[in-house]
Amino acid sequence: MTAAFQADFFERKTMDKILVLDFGGQYCQLIARRVREQHVFAEIKSYGRITPEEIRSAGYRGIIFTGGPDSVYDDDAPHCDPKILGMGIPVLGICYGAQLMAHTAGGKVAPAENGSEYGRTVLTAESSVLFRGVPRESVCWMSHTDMISALPGGFRIIASTDKCPCAAMSCDEKKLYGVQFHPEVTHTAFGGLIISNFLFSVCGCGKDWDPGNYAEQLIERYRCEHKDKRILLALSGGVDSSVAAILLHKAVGRNLTCVFVDHGLLRKGEGDLVEDTFRRTFGVNLIRVDAKERFLGRLRGVTEPEAKRKIIGEEFIRVFEEEAEKLGHVNALAQGTIYPDVIESGRGDSAVIKSHHNVGGLPAAISFDEIIEPLRDLFKDEVRSIGERLGLPRELVWRQPFPGPGLAVRITGEITGEKISMLQEADAIFRQEIEGADLQRRPDQYFAVLTGTRSVGVMGDARTYGYTVALRAVDTDDFMTAEWSRLPFDVLERASGRITNEVRGISRVVYDISSKPPATVEWE
Ligand code: XMP
Repeated sequence: MTAAFQADFFERKTMDKILVLDFGGQYCQLIARRVREQHVFAEIKSYGRITPEEIRSAGYRGIIFTGGPDSVYDDDAPHCDPKILGMGIPVLGICYGAQLMAHTAGGKVAPAENGSEYGRTVLTAESSVLFRGVPRESVCWMSHTDMISALPGGFRIIASTDKCPCAAMSCDEKKLYGVQFHPEVTHTAFGGLIISNFLFSVCGCGKDWDPGNYAEQLIERYRCEHKDKRILLALSGGVDSSVAAILLHKAVGRNLTCVFVDHGLLRKGEGDLVEDTFRRTFGVNLIRVDAKERFLGRLRGVTEPEAKRKIIGEEFIRVFEEEAEKLGHVNALAQGTIYPDVIESGRGDSAVIKSHHNVGGLPAAISFDEIIEPLRDLFKDEVRSIGERLGLPRELVWRQPFPGPGLAVRITGEITGEKISMLQEADAIFRQEIEGADLQRRPDQYFAVLTGTRSVGVMGDARTYGYTVALRAVDTDDFMTAEWSRLPFDVLERASGRITNEVRGISRVVYDISSKPPATVEWE
């Protein structure tokens, strides 16, 4: 079984790994990524869902306590089993995690007397293994209202700031370290080095995590365990399902069938790119279902955004089920689930943060014996690096996020074939202009929206009454919040000029300057 393989791959004694114990901090996933970037495997568990015995038997080389929004002295604040600090396994507490370490070990935590610290702060570091190679004064990122006001016995202060006398502490004998600042964010100048000191000098980890090798071992394993089984995968053309498809194709070849439901709501040329890549370049057993008319029929007259999403989600499953039925019994259904999906949907060991909003869900009418999720332990950047190693084209590997319901949530009001074509053209022009521009930083997501507003224009000597396109571009780290991108006027000018000249039916272009919150990235 694949889940079993994944479990024993990570349990191999040769594979050093770090436990990131989550206390509800917003940077929890970032911490795990920072560890993996240093080639050490890290996994996240919620503080309440793992016992000291389980920690011991899993063989972790070190533990990182994350930050969190609570005050350790509040009644319902998340605490961990105090035994964890006495197991001889090195622990690094970050922010709330450091306060929890102090509190649990007998020290005191109190509201910061000199007021809370937020943002870039000068850190003065003492001599410590944690700060090896870090200058005595450097910049760190602070965000706290409580602080450690009395050290636990056996600890010493190893760093301070103007407002925070104990910005870091350690008990070297027990290998316990606590930092009030956030080494995982890029604003902390030597954050990477501090994490690396913890991983290699304190925990003694080896650098044995490499997503590419992991992918090769997965392929080998699926090849052995699934060679005579039929696997079905719903391919969307997004990076996750694409990488999962190639990985499984390399393992089981024609025994993998990919069903690509083309709902007609993809960006210009995207359906053909998917077909070309998978069927022609890689020789994947691909069924492309042209369901455009069917989706348009179901969406006729529908204007309410949630209703559109629901119809598309349901119809998608129905089409997929019909195709699967034609294939007969399949042994396994494969999905492109990645680690953040596992964590965020609460299927892993962390608390539910948000339910994953994607087209799909499990089809009810298909019978299969198991679900395969080859990417369930990987972060997006790791999936991308595997995609590149497996030879997927850059357009697919670096594809910007695209919602499952596709252009339907970028056309306000009723959806028609004509509107889809207009939007596809306008969107392609905007993307070309952004990709061709010499920008310091490319926005994280950029696209066009066909608004329902029509307005009067003039072309030649004639009056026009065309649609208004809104251009949207955002900068974001996690898509939970986003800033509208400050695009240069000349890029906007070129895009606007080309769209109004080249796309019939569009007579006005506006730029969306709303951030999230209060707006969302998508219009619907
Ligand atoms: P919002 O509009 O919620 O979008 O601010 C945040 C990010 O999520 C993408 N998005 C979706 N992705 N299925 C997806 O897979 C969806 O239904 C969906 N809706 C929004 C959106 O493009 C942005 O990147």
